[in-house]
Amino acid sequence: MNLLALQQMKARGEKIAVLTSYDASFAALCDKAGVEVLLVGDSLGMTIQGHNSTLPVSLRDMEYHTRCVVKGAQQAFIVTDMPFGSYQKNPEQAFENAALLIAAGAQMVKVEGGAIMLDTVRFLVDRGIPVCGHLGLTPQSVHQFGGYRVQGRDDAAARQLLADAQALAEAGAGMLVLEMVPSALAAKVSQAIAIPVIGIGAGKDCDGQVLVLQDMLGIYAGKSPRFVRNFMQNASSIEQAVADYVAAVKSQAFPAPEHSFE
Ligand code: KIV
Repeated sequence: MNLLALQQMKARGEKIAVLTSYDASFAALCDKAGVEVLLVGDSLGMTIQGHNSTLPVSLRDMEYHTRCVVKGAQQAFIVTDMPFGSYQKNPEQAFENAALLIAAGAQMVKVEGGAIMLDTVRFLVDRGIPVCGHLGLTPQSVHQFGGYRVQGRDDAAARQLLADAQALAEAGAGMLVLEMVPSALAAKVSQAIAIPVIGIGAGKDCDGQVLVLQDMLGIYAGKSPRFVRNFMQNASSIEQAVADYVAAVKSQAFPAPEHSFE
C-alpha cells in the first residue's frame, strides 16, 4: 500500500479501512485482515499509557511504537501522529521531529490543525515527508475546545473547516482525518478535495473510516464515544472482528446513522 494507491482508491470510490495500531502483534493481525492504513495514533497515551488525554505522549513514545508496528505490518501504509509540542513551534522543529518518525519507519506523519499548519505542511512535503492533516475535533486542543465535542456545527465554523481542508490539500497534504463533524459537512469536504478523507465520527460519505483499535474491540476501560461500534460483540475472534470492520467500511454498513452527527 502506498499513497498513490490510496488516492486511486478514492478516485474509484473504494472505501479505505484504517485502524490505530501500537504494536507488532496487532499490526500483523490488522494487516492480514485487510486494513489498508495503520495509524500509530497518539491515542496510545490513553489506550496504552492510561492518561486521560493524548497530551502527555512524547516523541520518543511515538518512535518506539512506530518501530513496533513496522515490525508487524507487511502491506499496510503506516501513518504516525506527531505528538503535542513536537511540531507546533515552527516548520524546522516539525521537520527535525518528523524525520525521526520517518526514520523509525512511518511513511507519513499526521499533524493537527488548519490554517496555522500550512507553512509546516508545505515545508515537510517539499522535503519529502508525506503529511496527513487532521481537522474537526483535534484532541491535542481538547483544553481549547473545553471537551471532546462535535465541531463545525454552525455556518461560520463549517465554512472555516472546508476552507482549511482545501488549503491543507493545496499545501500538499496527502490525506486528511476528519473527527467528530456533521456528516453533511464531511461529505462536502470529501467531494471538494482530491486527497482521501478518513472520517471518525464524520459519517459514511468520507473516503475511508478510522477507529481506535481498543474502542472497536470493546476493551478500552474509559467511556467509548458514540461514533464507536464494538465489532467484538458479534465476532468469535479478534481476527473476525477486524475483518468484519474492514467489510463494514467497504460496504458502508459502518458508520450507521447512530455513529454519526447531524
Ligand atoms: O490518535 C489517534 O488515534 C487519532 C485518531 C483518533 C484519528 O488521531
